[in-house]
Amino acid sequence: MASSYSIYSTSLLLLLSFQLFSTISEAIVPASDTFTYVNEGDFGDYIVEYDANYRALPPFNNPFQLCFYNTTPNAFTLALRMGTVRSEALMRWVWEANRGNPVRENATLTFGTDGNLILADSDGRIAWQTNTANKGVVGFQVLPTGNMVLHDGKGNFIWQSFDSPTDTLLVGQSLKSGGASKLVSRASAMNNVDGAYSLVMEPKQLAMYYKSPNSPRPMLYWSSAEWFTIDKGSLANLTLTSVPDTDEGFLYYLVFDYFTKNPSSNQNRYMAYSRYNNTLSYLRLGIDGNLRFYTYNPNVQGVAWELVYTFLDRGSMEGECQLPEKCGKFGLCENNQCVACPTPNGLIGWSRECEAKVASCKASEFGYYKLEGVDHFMIKYTRGDGGRKESDCESKCSKDCKCMGYFYHTSDSRCWIAYDLKTLTKNGNSTHLAYIKAPKK
Ligand SMILES: *[C@@H]1O[C@H](CO)[C@@H](O)[C@H](O)[C@H]1NC(C)=O
Ligand SMILES: *[C@@H]1O[C@H](CO)[C@@H](O)[C@H](O)[C@H]1NC(C)=O
Ligand SMILES: *[C@@H]1O[C@H](CO)[C@@H](O)[C@H](O)[C@H]1NC(C)=O
Ligand SMILES: *[C@@H]1O[C@H](CO)[C@@H](O)[C@H](O)[C@H]1NC(C)=O
Repeated sequence: MASSYSIYSTSLLLLLSFQLFSTISEAIVPASDTFTYVNEGDFGDYIVEYDANYRALPPFNNPFQLCFYNTTPNAFTLALRMGTVRSEALMRWVWEANRGNPVRENATLTFGTDGNLILADSDGRIAWQTNTANKGVVGFQVLPTGNMVLHDGKGNFIWQSFDSPTDTLLVGQSLKSGGASKLVSRASAMNNVDGAYSLVMEPKQLAMYYKSPNSPRPMLYWSSAEWFTIDKGSLANLTLTSVPDTDEGFLYYLVFDYFTKNPSSNQNRYMAYSRYNNTLSYLRLGIDGNLRFYTYNPNVQGVAWELVYTFLDRGSMEGECQLPEKCGKFGLCENNQCVACPTPNGLIGWSRECEAKVASCKASEFGYYKLEGVDHFMIKYTRGDGGRKESDCESKCSKDCKCMGYFYHTSDSRCWIAYDLKTLTKNGNSTHLAYIKAPKK
């Protein structure tokens, strides 16, 4: 029985693959629409984000242009730039193909008749590709939304840049469970590799994490709980949209439009607004771990960009003290300002040089000093371990070489182990205690 079944299925497969082959082989990119661009020649004249050098490539749809750019010599990123020369404002990088995997002079971007888009380094090494060879692609386009697409004969997108965000989400772009569900910050303006921060779409919320090299797990420092919660089901996707206020006609909202599954529903949350058409906007997870909305108004010269909302800001629901590196390596933050540097001998004035001394691993060689009325940035959005004795919390930290201190709430016996300290927040609540590890003198 088994053998006759397999013969039957093999012939069916043959028949199917023959039919597939014949339909796909018809769908090729016309030779006149293929291209190869070489990363060579003079750099552009205008000032762009990260103070980069760039070479603009022909694909352009106002205000988006495909470019090669570099911030360090001979290490180029293929990226989409937003902004025009006419507005005389800084142009921004809103999508990139090859973060952390740069190409050199004479690298090539090739769109072949098979429908694959390939970024190859000068020695032929493939740095990045869309993996769309022989999948029915007939054309390439940069759309007015900033979505770069490869489409089939019916106009369906076989590949789209909107499915691979790095640190930026344009209007119309989505985070998707089971797909691109997060943004990751850039390490620094100079260094285009993944940074320490991520914005993650989780089943019930959006969450922001800080990944310290010392910490086994990323630390939560913000969640969307104050903006929206998902009571039933789980998030399937979330799309940044621009919604004009039809009653007033002069307000344009930036909205998170989200779908849940099990059960399915569609909801939205208004996040920010502007007084002009803000279809050209983006959400950016910054190098500093903050989250911001920027809008682009092409009708204004010089000041075409507007920062319309900052999530962790003195004017927002959550202040700047919640930013893990607000006070550098170590500092006490109060009312959006770094006010002190804790030491075993008490508080001193804060400076960028403040740092917690790493203690030896031997229990006989370190102790703790206590701070009262202080929280760690992870405490606000995490519950810690409940029902713990303070001494248990301490011994957990003492047994763990990587623990830099522990935080304890006496009113509800909660304990947090800190693998990195960075910014502590002063809140004046004497039931919130911090114990910082320090070498014994
Ligand atoms: C790029 O290729 C051109 C033409 O082959 C060559 O003249 C030039 O030296 C190459 N540039 C670099 C930096 O390798
Ligand atoms: C989001 O999910 C809903 C429900 O599953 C689906 O209908 C919709 O097409 C999805 N939107 C995007 C942008 O993926
Ligand atoms: C806003 O601008 C976009 C193009 O940038 C346009 O498609 C849209 O119709 C405009 N919306 C309104 C309400 O004018
Ligand atoms: C101090 O914090 C605890 C919870 O950790 C809270 O129950 C209490 O009300 C706070 N006290 C003051 C004075 O804010």
